[in-house]
Amino acid sequence: MKKVRKAVIPAAGFGTRFLPFTKAVPKEMLPIVDTPTIEYIVREVMESGIEEVLIIINSDKECIKTHFGHNQSFENFLISKNKTKELEMIQALPKQVKVEFTYQEEQLGLGHAVLCAEEFVQNEPFALLLGDDLYVGKKEPATKQMIQAYERTNSSILGTLEVPLEDVCKYGICSPIKETSNDLVELKSVVEKPNPQNAPSNLAIGGRYILTPTIFEFLKTQTRGAGGEIQLTDSILRMMSKEKVYALAIDGKRYDIGSKKGFLEATIDFSLAREDLSKDIKEILKKQML
Ligand code: UTP
Repeated sequence: MKKVRKAVIPAAGFGTRFLPFTKAVPKEMLPIVDTPTIEYIVREVMESGIEEVLIIINSDKECIKTHFGHNQSFENFLISKNKTKELEMIQALPKQVKVEFTYQEEQLGLGHAVLCAEEFVQNEPFALLLGDDLYVGKKEPATKQMIQAYERTNSSILGTLEVPLEDVCKYGICSPIKETSNDLVELKSVVEKPNPQNAPSNLAIGGRYILTPTIFEFLKTQTRGAGGEIQLTDSILRMMSKEKVYALAIDGKRYDIGSKKGFLEATIDFSLAREDLSKDIKEILKKQML
């Protein structure tokens, strides 16, 4: 069995749900307290034991590249002011991880974005993390849980969560082969954004995947699906004719940062979890409740 050594983070979408902010700034750069969302996601990759990371961007999203690189003039400024702590802070990330970038020229959908990673992935299984889905794993990072499930099955894994029936039209939805209470289940099919009346379940794909390279065979010939986009879910469904695919219920909390509610919830939860801020945020929340 080949090891999962690579991770791909698509971050080239337009982010229409977070306008007007996303007109000039990528939603993946939305700060949760003081750190861009995409940095938390890259840290999840590192904490899961993966060393090679590719982020897919578009030409309006160069600031993501800036965030993961060196900024010599900023570093020189901090040196001249003797701000050692701040200097260490901005130097640490580029030292810890080497991030590569590629461009999706046209925003044709998530499936199309993933196809842009083919040259980087080559013939290996890879982790796929959506650039606006944040997880706080209970015991292990979400991607580590996904890799462990891949190692048990030697198959593609879709990270899932249960959603209210009225929300199934926002997600790719899984249909398990049989009813079971196990966290890891083999799938019969998947469908992108079904109507609640036709949905096979309320088991939604939540922005984490381990995929075998077979997916590229199907992405290359994928026609447009829901919303007129080239959908990854449609290629995963076609791949099921060739290989088994499993769903893993991720043990942790997910925040959809691309939605305003998800962003607000993450901001509050992350502030509460921070030693330097929990007192302040509690005070603010308490005042609001009075
Ligand atoms: P979303 O489904 O959230 O789409 O993409 P979006 O178009 O960016 O945002 P909304 O729905 O209009 O607000 C999930 C992830 O896939 C990336 C996005 O950047 C996001 O991280 N994506 C989506 C691409 O890289 N390319 C695409 O063509 C579409």
